Amino acid sequence: MIGLRGRRVLVTGGAKGIGAGIARRLVDEGATVVIADLDRPAGEQLAHELGVVFWALDVSDTDAVQQQLAASAPFDVLVNNAGMDQHAWFTHTDAGQWKTLMAVNLYSVLATTHAVLPAMQRAGHGRLIHIASEAARLGSAGGAVYAAAKGAVLAFSRSMARENARYGITSNVIAPGPVDTPMLREAVARGGGALAQSMINATLARRLGTVQEIAAAVAFIASDEAGFITGEVLGVSGGMGCGQ
Ligand SMILES: NC(=O)c1ccc[n+]([C@@H]2O[C@H](COP(=O)([O-])OP(=O)(O)OC[C@H]3O[C@@H](n4cnc5c(N)ncnc54)[C@H](O)[C@@H]3O)[C@@H](O)[C@H]2O)c1
Repeated sequence: MIGLRGRRVLVTGGAKGIGAGIARRLVDEGATVVIADLDRPAGEQLAHELGVVFWALDVSDTDAVQQQLAASAPFDVLVNNAGMDQHAWFTHTDAGQWKTLMAVNLYSVLATTHAVLPAMQRAGHGRLIHIASEAARLGSAGGAVYAAAKGAVLAFSRSMARENARYGITSNVIAPGPVDTPMLREAVARGGGALAQSMINATLARRLGTVQEIAAAVAFIASDEAGFITGEVLGVSGGMGCGQ
């Protein structure tokens, strides 16, 4: 066990999928978890099961994020996990879609980080963990704006690592490959079996990842043992980042 007893953690998009797996694992490690998610029924159900607090919050609404976090006790760990993917070639997208994708995948990260950092700096300790994607490093046909937003998260995380090392705060990115979640199942429902197989073939491991595998990496990066790791991008992607 890594042990996160006494640590307060905010997990965005924690009602389902990877975020739910992270919340579950961090509770097992003894952390006090708050789940923030758009999906009230799923969030309330999981919060009840885990005995944690649920906030119904659209993290792309930067004013709502600021208000919610201003009224909250400080956090030791921020897990920016909420995200939204894209299923269209760039020429078939419009500016409205770009704004939504940027708001959910990038502005949410800026808003939560901006709100939690001052208290972390005063405490002299903190962990910023951003769930991006291997698409940030490899690009994505059909997910160009999503990949651009996730790529910006990588650069932002490294900047936060530089600005905040002096306060004992680390900032790291986890880059998942294809993971079996509602998001992926929805993509496969649209794209069919060939899409599922192409995702599997993009990994060296020739399989989908599990939410538990992403959560294990987050638990380690959140722990005191990972204090010398900052500004990194950790692929949890079955070797997808190696190329073929
Ligand atoms: N599943 C994959 O294969 C995969 C691969 C690479 C990266 N990721 C990334 O991992 C993260 C989690 O993905 P997932 O597969 O679990 O997704 P998911 O869609 O299964 O779950 C995402 C959760 O985030 C919530 N959410 C979405 N927008 C929100 C908003 N504006 N405010 C608050 N909550 C919001 C949803 O309600 C949902 O509970 C995302 O950032 C995604 O981009 C996933």
